Amino acid sequence: MKKIISPSILGGAFSNMERTITDLNKSKAEYIHFDVMDGDFVPNLTFGPKFISDLRSKSKKIFDVHLMINRVNKYLDDYIKAGSNIITFHYEINENLNEIINKIKLNKVKAGIAIKPKTPWQEIKKYLHLFDQVIVMTVEPGFGGQSFLYDQIKKIESISNYIKENNLDVDIEIDGGINYETGKLCVDAGANILVAGSFLFEQRDLTKAADKLNDYFN
Ligand code: DX5
Ligand code: ZN
Repeated sequence: MKKIISPSILGGAFSNMERTITDLNKSKAEYIHFDVMDGDFVPNLTFGPKFISDLRSKSKKIFDVHLMINRVNKYLDDYIKAGSNIITFHYEINENLNEIINKIKLNKVKAGIAIKPKTPWQEIKKYLHLFDQVIVMTVEPGFGGQSFLYDQIKKIESISNYIKENNLDVDIEIDGGINYETGKLCVDAGANILVAGSFLFEQRDLTKAADKLNDYFN
């Protein structure tokens, strides 16, 4: 199965985001990962829908939008209108999941569910079939550049087995601390999409770094 790389622009300078998008456009990465944080669901603030919509015209890549926010239902329309192709929200928010999924799907956008490291995977079991992807967080959401949590590998394996056993069409995306070594462990455990932030941006040439990571897994 083909592996997809989703570079997280959180690792790039916000003052020069057009450059980051241009560099990623030239790469083999199929997705671009946008980390939306509200300073409430997570202890950090990033950007909102205008930022995404302003960059939409600069790229044909799949915009993989990861909402780390509360009040998803309230702001969902704005993220749909901004041009998101996939919208992933967190299971841990206190809202009606079905209402959110329905609204996303009605607008022909793909829907994802994300779980924090401490959330047992069994809690999302009964919802998995409703989603196009699940994001397994391998760091506490909120900041780039954290160390990969190895104890999440078992969770990836369990979710992957459940998806296979039940013949579901759900991608497994891993987010946090991804590099060659940790990415390989995730892929071996059943993941097919890898988010990578600081690992790519620490390298001199972003386009080449994204290509190398893509080629390593394909
Ligand atoms: C963390 C974000 C991640 C982050 C990944 O809350 O969801 O997408 O940008 O960055 P790295 O690869 O540096 O862990
Ligand atoms: Zn993310």
